[in-house]
Amino acid sequence: MKRFQKLLEENKKWAASQVAKDPGYFKRLAKVQAPEVLWIGCSDSRVPANQITNTEPGEIFVHRNIANLVINNDVNLLSVLDFAVNTLKVKHVIVCGHYGCGGVKAAITNHDFKAILNMWLRSIKDVYRFHRDEIDRITDPKKKEDRLVELNVQEQVFNLAKTSIIQRAWQNEQRPHLHGWVYSLNNGLLKTVYEIKPGTSIDPIYEYGDL
Ligand code: CO
Repeated sequence: MKRFQKLLEENKKWAASQVAKDPGYFKRLAKVQAPEVLWIGCSDSRVPANQITNTEPGEIFVHRNIANLVINNDVNLLSVLDFAVNTLKVKHVIVCGHYGCGGVKAAITNHDFKAILNMWLRSIKDVYRFHRDEIDRITDPKKKEDRLVELNVQEQVFNLAKTSIIQRAWQNEQRPHLHGWVYSLNNGLLKTVYEIKPGTSIDPIYEYGDL
């Protein structure tokens, strides 16, 4: 059997087992989606949001891209953020990076990955430059990369706080809380590296005074 056919077979088994456990499962889930969390994670196949947090379908609204970036003109990310914050009314937005991230590893090199990937990875190089003093003091290449993973998550949390979507929700509804997490592929554990409460100021230049 081809790999993709196996996926379809496994889907049938999974759907049947869900109904066996709970006959009303799909009927209930089909009616409403009310997740309290928006997850912005890396596309890496080893970091699946639901599995690593032991959550069920319906619990986490998910957006994933290479190296979990929050780019201020990414219409895809911003639509997800807008919908999650303004319609689903999520209480928490989590940016989850992971050690050993291929995107971060690529950005730390001087290799030309060609136009599209270079464009995407550029913002990780910017994170390196903002924190060059700290990163350059680290001599071990693996530790350097791990620290860049953490700082990248922190910068993406800042990028969320810079949006009028987040600032308006903070002003009107004192939510969502923003979290920066890093996942370890080695032990399966999540670690908090950054956290900001509603209303936190990043820098006055980003604050909209007439929301
Ligand atoms: Co990654």
